[in-house]
Amino acid sequence: PKQLLPIANKPMSEYCMESMKGAGVTEIAIIIGGIGSQKVKEYYGDGDQFGIKINYILQDFPRGIAHAISLCENFIGNEKFLVFLGDNIIQKSINEFASEFQKSDDSATILLCEVDNPSRFGIADIQNGEIKKIIEKPKNPPTNLAVTGIYFLTPTIFKIFEVLQPSWRNELEITDALDMLLNEKHSITYKIITHYWKDTGTPEDIINANKAILENIVPEFKGEKDTAVSIEGKVSLGNETWIGDQVKIKGPVIIGEKCKISGNTIIGPNTSIGDECIVSGGIIRDSIIMNNCEIGKNVNLRNSIISSNSSIKENSIKNEQVFLLGEGTKVLF
Ligand code: G1P
Repeated sequence: PKQLLPIANKPMSEYCMESMKGAGVTEIAIIIGGIGSQKVKEYYGDGDQFGIKINYILQDFPRGIAHAISLCENFIGNEKFLVFLGDNIIQKSINEFASEFQKSDDSATILLCEVDNPSRFGIADIQNGEIKKIIEKPKNPPTNLAVTGIYFLTPTIFKIFEVLQPSWRNELEITDALDMLLNEKHSITYKIITHYWKDTGTPEDIINANKAILENIVPEFKGEKDTAVSIEGKVSLGNETWIGDQVKIKGPVIIGEKCKISGNTIIGPNTSIGDECIVSGGIIRDSIIMNNCEIGKNVNLRNSIISSNSSIKENSIKNEQVFLLGEGTKVLF
């Protein structure tokens, strides 16, 4: 599942969890469904390891965000709650928004962020500081203020779900539910996020989020390196990772545990490499390489996502290449 894809070597959804935890949330429900559900459960378990109690609620079919939330009615009971889409990445804490919402009488607070491509998102029409309308993926967007996938809600929304109709894409839209709340004169407030927010809808978005998160990594050096290795900028290397003498690393870069990087390799900037990878000569920049991958000599990767257990063999062409490889893919030249 996309929500488990690593950004700076950590599943993207773990950043959501950290935001929620930071905002005082102690118990969450993860909505799972379809292929990969088991992997989500395996990774997060009961949440003990993450310091948060985790429940799982199964959605039989992707019937929309509003449908997913409606499945949580019993879990929520009478409390105010926070919905965080597992593919949304935000860098700053949401604590302030959460505590303001706790104190308010609002039925919902949504977080908005300016975007260049408003037709891809839910959009809020704001006039004189008030939300007039919320529309899903409008053809003629009234503003460029996207409704991010972070919603502060109250149980009032569950009444709306009972009458909500599927949209043109046959989903129960959270935007439509919020718009109905507005029409019923419930108060919905908004906050504008001016720092980094991304919905990782495309591979480019994922690479971009990786870059943004890497900009703030704390340099750490647990591995081993030969004396001649050149390291610039913020670089984090995991336990038992070995870097050979002709290697250049240009941060920001994160490399996991038990990797072997050798030959005339240049890694970075903006690159994450998972655990147990072997890179033996080549260039990797603006890319994500997951666990247990092998990148051969002369391979020149940019803007690439290489899933776990994949390999790209020695290359004779040195041109820059873009790969999006699924798990366990072997590329031979
Ligand atoms: C969903 C919501 C949309 C919101 C976006 C934020 O879109 O429907 O309103 O702006 O998440 O991530 P989807 O990812 O389903 O296209």
